[in-house]
Amino acid sequence: MQNIILTNDATSELKSLIATSGSDKVFALYDENTFRHCRSLLANLYGEVSITDIIIPPTDAAKNTDTLASVWEALQKKGASRSSLMLCIGGGMVTDLGGFAAATFKRGINFINVPTTLLAMVDAAVGGKTGINFGSLKNEIGVFREASAVVCDTNFLHTLDAENTNSGFAEMLKHALLSSKEMWSRHISFDLINPDFRTLLPMVGESIEVKKNIVAQDPQEHGLRKALNLGHTFGHAMETLALKRSNTGLHGYFVAWGLVCELYLSCVLEKFPSDTMRKTVQYILSNYGKPNITCKDYEELYDLMLHDKKNSGGVISCTLLAEIGDIRIDRHPTKDDIFEAFDFLREA
Ligand code: GLY
Repeated sequence: MQNIILTNDATSELKSLIATSGSDKVFALYDENTFRHCRSLLANLYGEVSITDIIIPPTDAAKNTDTLASVWEALQKKGASRSSLMLCIGGGMVTDLGGFAAATFKRGINFINVPTTLLAMVDAAVGGKTGINFGSLKNEIGVFREASAVVCDTNFLHTLDAENTNSGFAEMLKHALLSSKEMWSRHISFDLINPDFRTLLPMVGESIEVKKNIVAQDPQEHGLRKALNLGHTFGHAMETLALKRSNTGLHGYFVAWGLVCELYLSCVLEKFPSDTMRKTVQYILSNYGKPNITCKDYEELYDLMLHDKKNSGGVISCTLLAEIGDIRIDRHPTKDDIFEAFDFLREA
């Protein structure tokens, strides 16, 4: 199982991981924002280990071949070898792109993820999915390659704004829906307006465990790992449409709206209890609002869903639920079902 460390002292964890890694050179990949705001938290590490920084532009718009090539180029120019180690310090964009750069440079160098957002801690940094966007499709190019360790420093969580906390929490809510009624009911009672970090921190560890256990059973997504796509078939389509229109938006918001659509379809197609669906939808809408879509967008959203890499044979595949924790992968809603689910989201 992947080595995931939840700590309040990333420096000492990284120091000992680097010492035992046997690497000849250590690189740290940041985006401009994490370089500005997060590097200081690792100041003591720089005092003891020689680290070369590589800085890339922030945001999903830079998760592309140009940025990837700039990382390969920096590694090459600064003398990285096959025994070098890269620390990917940032949100999901940095851990996805950095992991892919590391996985492909000289056929693969080791990397350690240091997620700085809640979203990256509970999802992106864990489980070995790496990649970049391509041709306006999200995460279109990539490989499975697990970070040799994931170091989650809870100090980063205190620095997050409300939107970033909400964004990560959407993936936590997804993990709760995949797990148990008890976990779900604690999540939909969590106050996102005034988050209590003493309550949140153990929930983060619990959420990482859910993902880690699923990934350990199906690392390359042949079956069970598709459970983690709950909310993402609809969510990715809405996110890709927003990206095409240069609208900003955090991933977790699209996942939360995707959960609304997919829980609605779970009720219609899998007899998921409507009371549970309504409570979850109410929680999501009151904390995440609604997406900026109209019925004129449905055809384009449907087309984007058809191009999702989770599909094969030209049919749309979704993960649905028959109950909390009762997972139904490879479900194929019709075009009418899908339009109805978008109507439900807009009118709920
Ligand atoms: N984000 C879903 C997965 O890692 O499989």
